[in-house]
Amino acid sequence: MKGVILAGGLGTRLYPLTYTTNKHLLPIFDKPMIFYPISTLVQAGIKEILVIVSGPHAGHFIGVLKNGKELGVEHLEFAYQEKPDGGIADALLLAEDFADNSEICVILGDNTTDAKIKDSIDSFRDGSLLFFKKIEDPESLRRFGVAVFDKDNKLIKIEEKPKNPQSQLVATGLYVYDNKVFEYIRKCSPSWRKEIEITDVNNHYIAKGKANWINLSGFWSDTGTFETLFLANSYWAKKHENR
Ligand code: G1P
Repeated sequence: MKGVILAGGLGTRLYPLTYTTNKHLLPIFDKPMIFYPISTLVQAGIKEILVIVSGPHAGHFIGVLKNGKELGVEHLEFAYQEKPDGGIADALLLAEDFADNSEICVILGDNTTDAKIKDSIDSFRDGSLLFFKKIEDPESLRRFGVAVFDKDNKLIKIEEKPKNPQSQLVATGLYVYDNKVFEYIRKCSPSWRKEIEITDVNNHYIAKGKANWINLSGFWSDTGTFETLFLANSYWAKKHENR
């Protein structure tokens, strides 16, 4: 399986930190943020990786990642998304040639986790696999894609940033897709925030009965806000201290 890391966007929620570099290169304790999703993929045996970048600081990535060898990556590619505010799924379209009909594991460059996903990757066959995480704070829930289940506990859809979350399970930025993903992206229209939403892509898989989901074990956080950026830094600093 190949890996795709989405590391574009303008990082406007983290201004002024992101005036001078891309969000995904900001430090999380002792490493640039993007090292964490790379390590999640490499530990799962995924060593062919495409990093999709955008925005005014796109050139900074090559200086930090070089050819990826120091991080255990065997083949590293970059793609450039023209519209930095086009959304996650718009960026993912750029991975079509790289994927070359194989399955892909997609991870958002601002997600850090210590979950081990190798077994899930190895047992993936087709459709999609979505990794969810329980979040209890209702205010935090509204920042994410939140799963909706029917009375038999069957996943029926994901709602992006719902006012009234229907469960406490959020879609983390970690997804495994078969090669249908590009066809589904092309079926999506821009959302209220004018982005092509990865949630709409996931809902296509759910509607076709082709979405499996599991709970991501261990720590997981995005870094979309100053609070979660700080939370991720604190977690990884403490983990380092307890080694
Ligand atoms: C994105 C996805 C959302 C997901 C989140 C995880 O949100 O749209 O469904 O829960 O990543 O980090 P965004 O960062 O674009 O607001």
